[in-house]
Parts: sequence; C-alpha cells; structure tokens
Amino acid sequence: MVAGIPKTVLHLHIEGSLEPELAFVLAERNSMAPGSQGFPYESLDQLRAAYRFADLGAFLDVYYAVAGVLRTEDDFHALAEAYGRRLQAEGVRWAEVFFDPQTHTSRGIPFDTVVRGLQRGFASAHAAGIHVALVLCFLRDAPVGEPAELQAASSADGFASMDQATAWATLGQLLQHRATDGAKVPNVPIIGIGLDSYEKPYPPELFTDVFEHARARGLAATAHAGEEGPPQFVWTSIRELKVSRIDHGVRSTEDPELMAFLAQEHDTPEIVAAYGRPHRIPLTVCPRSNYMLKVFPDPTRSNLLELLDAGVLACIHSDDPAYFGGYASDNYLAVIDWLDPSWAQLRQLARNGVLAAWGTDAAKQPLLDDVDAWFSRWMP
Ligand code: ADE
Ligand code: ZN
Repeated sequence: MVAGIPKTVLHLHIEGSLEPELAFVLAERNSMAPGSQGFPYESLDQLRAAYRFADLGAFLDVYYAVAGVLRTEDDFHALAEAYGRRLQAEGVRWAEVFFDPQTHTSRGIPFDTVVRGLQRGFASAHAAGIHVALVLCFLRDAPVGEPAELQAASSADGFASMDQATAWATLGQLLQHRATDGAKVPNVPIIGIGLDSYEKPYPPELFTDVFEHARARGLAATAHAGEEGPPQFVWTSIRELKVSRIDHGVRSTEDPELMAFLAQEHDTPEIVAAYGRPHRIPLTVCPRSNYMLKVFPDPTRSNLLELLDAGVLACIHSDDPAYFGGYASDNYLAVIDWLDPSWAQLRQLARNGVLAAWGTDAAKQPLLDDVDAWFSRWMP
C-alpha cells in the first residue's frame, strides 16, 4: 500500500543503487575478472555476504570497491535507467539524485562520461513525468585543492589519481558542463551540491569556500552531517556552508539548542533561494541506512518520530538502497514496522518529503495535494 504514497527522493546516492547483479554484469562487460584487484568479489554470494557493516567507514570501503565496475557512459546509463524504473514503480514523483564524480574521475573517467550517462539513463523517468535532477556530492576525504583548479579543469579530461580530482577541480567541471553539455540536456540538470563520504575526521568547514563559490552560481547546497559526526557538524554545515538541507542529521537530538533552531523557519538568502520563502532546514533521514550502519543498532530506538514531534522537518529516504535492504517504500515500511507511527505522523512524514524538496510552494503544491488525497483516501 505505501508504494502508492506520492514520494520524493532527496537523499539517494546513485552509486548506492548499484545492485549486485548489475555490478557483475558491468564487471564482465569491462573485462574485470571476479576476484581480481579491480573487482575483489568472486561471486554474488560473496558480495552479498560483504553487506554486513560495522559502521559508515566499513560500508564505504565496499561501496567504493563495487563502484569500480562503472567505467563507460553506457555503464552510468544502465545504472540510472535501472534506478529510473524503480522511481516509476515506487510512486516517486520528484527526485534530486546524488552522484559522486570524484569516485570516478579519480580513476581516469571523464566527468562528462559520468554525467552524460546518468542524464541519458534518466530520460525515460523524465518522459514518464517524474521531476529528475542531479546533485553533485563532494567527497569530504578527497583533497579540497585550490581555486586556481577551477580554470584548469576541462570537463573532458580524465584524472590519473584522487590527488588531482579535487573539490575545486570538480566544481570547475560542473560549471563547465552546465555551460556546454548541460544546456543541451535541460531535462536532468545538475541543480545542487552536497558533501558525503567518511564523516568524522573531515569537518564541513574544510569546504566553506567551495560551497560559497557554488552557491554564488545558483547551486543549492546540502551536506551529510550528524550521521556519525557530532551535532557541531550540523551547526557548521548551516553556518559555514550555508546549506538549505541536512542529510541524516539524526544526532541533532543531542543538542537542544540545535533542535530549537531546526524547528524554526529562517529567512537567510540561501534558504529563500532554495524554497522561495522563509523555511525550516529539513533533515533527510534514512531509517534502513541508520540501522545497517549501526547509527541505531536497535532500529526501534530511531529518533525519527522524536524529531518530527519536536517540529523538525524530517522526512524518509533510502540513502544506498542496494546495500541497506530497500528503496523508498521499504523505508516507509521499516518506519511503520519499527516505530509504529500514527496516521497523522505518517502523513506528516510524507508531506515533509515534499516540503523538503528544492522548489517553490507553487511548484510543489500539486504533489502535496496528491499526498493529502492519498491520505484522505486511506486514513481511518
Ligand atoms: N556515501 C554514500 N552513502 C553515504 C552515507 N550514508 N554517508 C556518507 N557518505 C555516503
Ligand atoms: Zn547519504
């Protein structure tokens, strides 16, 4: 039944939607022998057995190893097309999809190969009426680099190592893509930037200047914070990076002042640019991810409803569905199963999914109306 709830996808890493079966197909297509250094898994069973994670870092080690099978534009196309079919099956109407270009450019794969493949792959979802956009996530463990690299970055060039796939060079590639290729493929634009990967040793303020440069060029901003890092990272993402959304943010409940701040609307220029009016800063919470990465080893202790009841704009997302046992609907089902929300709480979570999307009220109202219509049909 929850598949019918009109949904948004705001916290989904496209590389995290790479299912093991497709990973093996792509490995073979790229002549990467199972069990070799490039693809260190002998069989589907062995790969699936690796999906038991002690923490975020242990997960990311596997996630990056598997992402190594993505090499050609057709590989990225296949990845996005498969996920686009999920969007249609799951009642998703609006998707702002994360991708991690540095994971690929650091292996010598050109930025445009990645983006063109993703954009082509999402064409069917777009044609089916789904609002699809891309959000470029910087890897917090990759070097930030220097502003001079903005100019040096020709988006057609590959890079030989992670040392050269810096945040500044990547931003240069994004801006160049937008001015050239992006203008030709307006249906799946890159609308924003994010920050992800290993959290604890890499505070958000390392990226203040990169984010400022990107925001000044009209890109919306979000950041992973307060997943395994402290509430202070949520504060610095808001104050230094000036994000209009936070990914995860579940550790915010440890800081009452932060909770009060998140429950209020703010009218800073970046918030008004993202939503067209003063707005709360949403948290995109990923229940199955938090369970699988042991943020909440006992999922019945997830604080999602605590956030909601405190007036925080929290909503349900899936993070890396191929690794965490489920897509959008599975995360709704997990919340129902683990937390037993009231109908009113469930409706609020679904409405929050729409409110948290980057766009004006006018753009989102039809979707909000459909969420309300779904709940008035089913709610006792
Ligand atoms: N990259 C992919 N999934 C992530 C997560 N949950 N946290 C940080 N970086 C990620
Ligand atoms: Zn994430």
